This record gives sequence, structure tokens and C-alpha cells, in this order.
Amino acid sequence: MSYVITIAGGGSGHTPGILLTALRYRKEFLINEIRLYDTDEVRNEDMRIIMDFLLKREHEDVKLVATSDPKDAFTGCDFIFSQIRVGGMEMRELDEKIPLKYGLVGQETCGLGGFAYGMRTMKGFTEMVGFIQQYPPDAWILNYTNPETIVSETVRRQFPNIKIINACDMTIGIEMLLERSFGYDRKNLVATYYGLNHFGWYHDIYDVTKGRDVMPEILEKIKQQGFNTEGTEPSWAHTWNIMADMQRVFPDNLMNNYLQYYLFPDKIVESANPTYTRANEIMDGRNKTIKENVAKIQENRDLDTIDYKSVAHGQYIVEMAMSIIHNQNKRFMLIVPNMGAIPNLRPDAVVEIPCYVNAKGVEPISLRFDIPDFQKGLMEAQVAAEKLLVDAFFENSYQKALEAFTLNQTVPNATVAKNVLDDFIAANGDYWVNLK
Ligand code: G6P
Ligand code: MN
Repeated sequence: MSYVITIAGGGSGHTPGILLTALRYRKEFLINEIRLYDTDEVRNEDMRIIMDFLLKREHEDVKLVATSDPKDAFTGCDFIFSQIRVGGMEMRELDEKIPLKYGLVGQETCGLGGFAYGMRTMKGFTEMVGFIQQYPPDAWILNYTNPETIVSETVRRQFPNIKIINACDMTIGIEMLLERSFGYDRKNLVATYYGLNHFGWYHDIYDVTKGRDVMPEILEKIKQQGFNTEGTEPSWAHTWNIMADMQRVFPDNLMNNYLQYYLFPDKIVESANPTYTRANEIMDGRNKTIKENVAKIQENRDLDTIDYKSVAHGQYIVEMAMSIIHNQNKRFMLIVPNMGAIPNLRPDAVVEIPCYVNAKGVEPISLRFDIPDFQKGLMEAQVAAEKLLVDAFFENSYQKALEAFTLNQTVPNATVAKNVLDDFIAANGDYWVNLK
């Protein structure tokens, strides 16, 4: 069997990493066609040029198409890998800068920036799923689109029967960090993790070679040594350092680094530059490199300096596709309706928990333990805030949006919630539904 893959958000700088990961597994996962789908035709064409170069360099005979037409993109494809970013980096920049103007966390997926992005993505993503349903109703959507809990909750409400797997690479990223820092081998770790997307904790990390839970010793190592940030770009090194500090304050469970935005917003805001945020770094870094690489290819120079790597993002998505194709029952942390998996959390929450992936799709694992009050309290407030935002989208409700913004745990009062909401409404225009 060989497969047709559509990468939605094909113009993203993450696309080459997916290709290079897939090529590492070409025996198990044979791809005969890759379609790049993007509403931004310039970025998509740039990426087509880079992908074409990489395929030729690897001597791969794969058909490559770039299109902004959903019919051409989705008809007859087997997998859709979705990483769309509605509004692009330009809007990410505003998601980060508007809250910072008010002294609040400014981030693409957490806090009010995440909610602003959520409002845009609900609109753009549901529109895309509508197209997908029209053309290849049988394809699996492997979805990375942020902010993931909000996207998952929205799709569940509007398209309850769609074949979608919602995944985030952060847990695999954390496990790779454990490999780099302390010499563990991810393949030997069976982890139990629970939470919401970008908002969770490890309960235990069983090491099959040792026959026991190694989370206590990992936590001790973090406390003593921190993480190995060698070769990590400065923003991520900063995140890993804050994470190590967080673990010293909350030493019982290994946690998701994104909790930094909810537990220590003071430190985050203090170290942020309100005029130069992560979006600026990416525009000046990853995105500039795309343009430079396209020029090198077109001018046929410095080709050996074009350097892309297979990283966590691609690894996760390709491993999932293979687990479906070959019915491997591999274990992944995925974003699914709770339905009792975390017994003492509301069943209609969308949670991130371990799941098996096989030919049938996703089989979530029931945790069968109650989570502690600290985690439960934080999660309940977050679930309610995210649900209110999704309500606001479907009901065109300003009031619900304001409640969501006020309940967000990075927000100290309703006055600032309203100010930020009004700024975001003005900045987003038609990217958002009209709130009345
Ligand atoms: C991790 C998260 C993604 C997020 C990305 C941001 O991979 O799981 O959800 O989009 O980090 O990375 P960036 O380099 O774009 O700031
Ligand atoms: Mn993520």
C-alpha cells in the first residue's frame, strides 16, 4: 500500500520535518503523493520549492502538489495532517502583544492570546473540516492545530462523527528532553499523564528496563541539575529553565512546561519583551530561512547549507499514522472527551490522556484514579473558560466571550478582561465571528 498525504498549513516551516521523518520510515509508510494545502499561496509555493529540493536530494519519487483549492487538496487523500495557523504569524504577534500591553501573559496558545487565536481557529478549522467532509469523508485527520482543546471541543460539537485524532507533540517533546538531560530512552518509558492540552501532569513514568516508576528519580535529578539545554534555542532553553524552577516549587509530579503561564505569569510577564515576542523571533528566524532557502535553490547556490531535521512534531504525526495503518496499538497522549477516563472530572471535558491508536482509531485509557484537588481545581476553571469561549463562537455571544476571558486564570479582573477582549475584536475583524 502507498498513501496520499495532504498537509494542511503546508506552507509552515514544520513541513520539511514531517517529510524527513516520513522518509525515515519509508518501508513502513510508503507515500506516493504529498499535497501541500495552504490559503497563503506564496508561502505554499515557497514550501513546494523546498520540498521538491529535499525529495530530489533524497532521490525520492513522490508526486508533489501545492494547492489552495480544497477540492484538489482533499479528494481521494488518505491522511490529512493539519497544522493550519489561521491569521499566520502576523496575527500570532498580536495574540502575544495585546495582552502584554495590559501586563498579562501574551502567548499563542495560553492565556488570552490563546483565546484570541482560538476564536480565529474555530472559524477557519470548521470551514476546512466542512470541505474535508465534502471530498474524502474516509481520510483520517491527524490534527495538530492549536489551540488544541478549543479546536477539539469545537469539532466534537459540530462534526461528532468525523475521523479525527487530536494530538500535541509537547509530551513527546518533554520525553525527548528527559532523554537529552538524563539519558533515558523514550522507547522504554510507559508514561501516564493527565490534563488538558498544554495544561497537564505526569502521574507516573514506568521504565520497562528497571521495572519501576522512575518519575521520583527524574524529579530529583531536575531539582539537582535542571535540564540540559545545550544546543536548544534561547526561548526554549528559557522555558526549560522555568520548568525546572516550577518543579522545585511543585515537586510531586512532572508537569507540562506550558503550566508556566498559569502558575508563574508574574515571571513570564517580567521576562517578556512587549515589543519583540516569539512571533517576531519566528518571522526573523524560521520564516526568513524559508525565503533564503528558496533563493538558494532558485539560484542554484549553497545547496549544502539547506538544513532541515526530523523533529518531535513530525515524529509524533508519522508514528500515529503508522499505528493506524499497521494496527500497532501504540500509546500516545491524545486529546479526547473525558467520558469517565479521569473519574472525578466532568465527563464532557476534553482531556489529554494516554490512548492506544490502532486501525479503529483511538482507544483512550481509563486512569482509574482520582486526580488531586490542586490539579482538579486548575483544570476545572480552565475547562469552563474554554467551553465558554466555544459557546461564544457558536452563539455569537459577546457575554460568553467576556465570561471566558474573565475566567481565564491569567486574568486578575473583569475590567482588564473586557479591555483585552475589545482590543482583540478590533484587531481580528473578520477572522472572528461577529459577537453580539
Ligand atoms: C510545541 C507545542 C506546539 C506549539 C509549539 C510552539 O511544539 O506543542 O503546540 O505550537 O511548541 O513552538 P514555536 O517554536 O512555534 O514557538
Ligand atoms: Mn502543542
